Amino acid sequence: MNNRMNPRDRYYAEMRAAEERRAEAARRAAEENRRRELLEQKRRYNEKMERRRRHEAMMRKKKRRAYAGRVLLFVVCFLIIFTVVMLCVFVSFHMKPIELPDNDSYDVYFGEGDGRLETEVARAKLDRGGVRYVDYTKLAEYLSLTVVGGSGTYRFVIPGTEEETVFTDGSPEAYVNGEVYRMKGNAAVESGKVWVPLSFVSECMTGVNVTEDDEKMTITFLSSGSVGFTMKRAETLGPIPDGSTPVTDEPPVSDDPPEPEFTSDLSAFEQYMNPADRDAYLILVNSTHKIDRDYAPDDLVDIVNTRADGRKEVMRECAEKALEALFIELYANGYDAKGPSGYPVSVMSAYRSYDKQEYLFNIYTQNEMHDNPALTREEAEAITATYSARPGTSEHQTGLCVDMHNLPAADQKFASQEAYEWLRDNAWKFGFILRFPEDKEEITGITFEPWHYRFVGRYHAYKIWKAGMCLEEYVESLGGQA
Ligand code: DAL
Ligand code: ZN
Repeated sequence: MNNRMNPRDRYYAEMRAAEERRAEAARRAAEENRRRELLEQKRRYNEKMERRRRHEAMMRKKKRRAYAGRVLLFVVCFLIIFTVVMLCVFVSFHMKPIELPDNDSYDVYFGEGDGRLETEVARAKLDRGGVRYVDYTKLAEYLSLTVVGGSGTYRFVIPGTEEETVFTDGSPEAYVNGEVYRMKGNAAVESGKVWVPLSFVSECMTGVNVTEDDEKMTITFLSSGSVGFTMKRAETLGPIPDGSTPVTDEPPVSDDPPEPEFTSDLSAFEQYMNPADRDAYLILVNSTHKIDRDYAPDDLVDIVNTRADGRKEVMRECAEKALEALFIELYANGYDAKGPSGYPVSVMSAYRSYDKQEYLFNIYTQNEMHDNPALTREEAEAITATYSARPGTSEHQTGLCVDMHNLPAADQKFASQEAYEWLRDNAWKFGFILRFPEDKEEITGITFEPWHYRFVGRYHAYKIWKAGMCLEEYVESLGGQA
């Protein structure tokens, strides 16, 4: 047929055929490109997925490692704690019991067998200034002696006889069947109990055996027959040693403070504890005896035994010096151990200005209102005033008192500490009184504050302590002159 085509048609036919071939070649090339592109895309996708897979695998590995680390740490800690606990258990089972320090306490027995009276006594109470003491009231209870007394003079009578002995608080003289016997130390009345030198029992009594065992730290009193006193009426023990007061028929009765005996040499402090002008510090400040807003003492000095927690407390010089003596003696008597606060008894608060008192009073009042939102301001203030004096009525502004204890904060729990008992019974020797006693709340208007001590000087402190009065009662007994 081509042969029959004319040359022109043939030319066009060949041109078309060539055109179709080119188009076919271009289509194939495009297809090839597209295929390559898809392959490239697939390769990149695969690469990306591979990278992600590797990343995830790495993260999983890291997590596993971290987890393993924590487990290991836990196991190590557990093993350490377990080992320490087991060691403690082992040691506590195999260790000897901890030996108590020498200066702890003695077991004192009155009698033997089931019926005996047994008591534990702090060594500081037992051994004073090199003299061993006994609680004679307790011994008298064991021996069934009759006790009559008060106001510092106590009479112990052997029932059914005329035999008796009389002790006077603060005096070394005992009256045995009317005859004076000078003891190796002063009698001391503490919490209503009469403490006397133990040698009195062995030297002046019959029918009582005393056994002291300092290794076992025991003292035993044993009644061995009929109890009596060695000195009989109209019989004396011969000359009285030098330095004693003259013999009289009756026990001396005096209101003046006895000269206290101290463990430490406090002679340098005597002029402060017992000031020559004995009325100089007898000032009454309370809700009805107010103090001027502007009053501030001009002799305030730093207090040596302010608690070492960054505070700086000050008080009037004479009171501060007397307080220094009190602390020396307190610590020397064994009351220097750290209390629940981590400090031994020390001063937390002393002189407070009117403004400081006002600030405290307001804080306490706000606390009351916060604790009981139903209270009016007036009601809240009335509650606060039972434990914090209103500004202008606090004796802290006189610079003559201190709050001292060994607790983290002032608390009536201080009354159960032995150091409190010592302060209560001995503060007068240094010129201080317990200002807000437990049984005087009705009069002082302030709840019991076993930590608040007020300096008045020894003369008045002794009389106040002796009479069991609070300052309000004492000033009243003087005709209200303070
Ligand atoms: N705490 C005593 C009463 C005072 O604030 O003065
Ligand atoms: Zn106070």
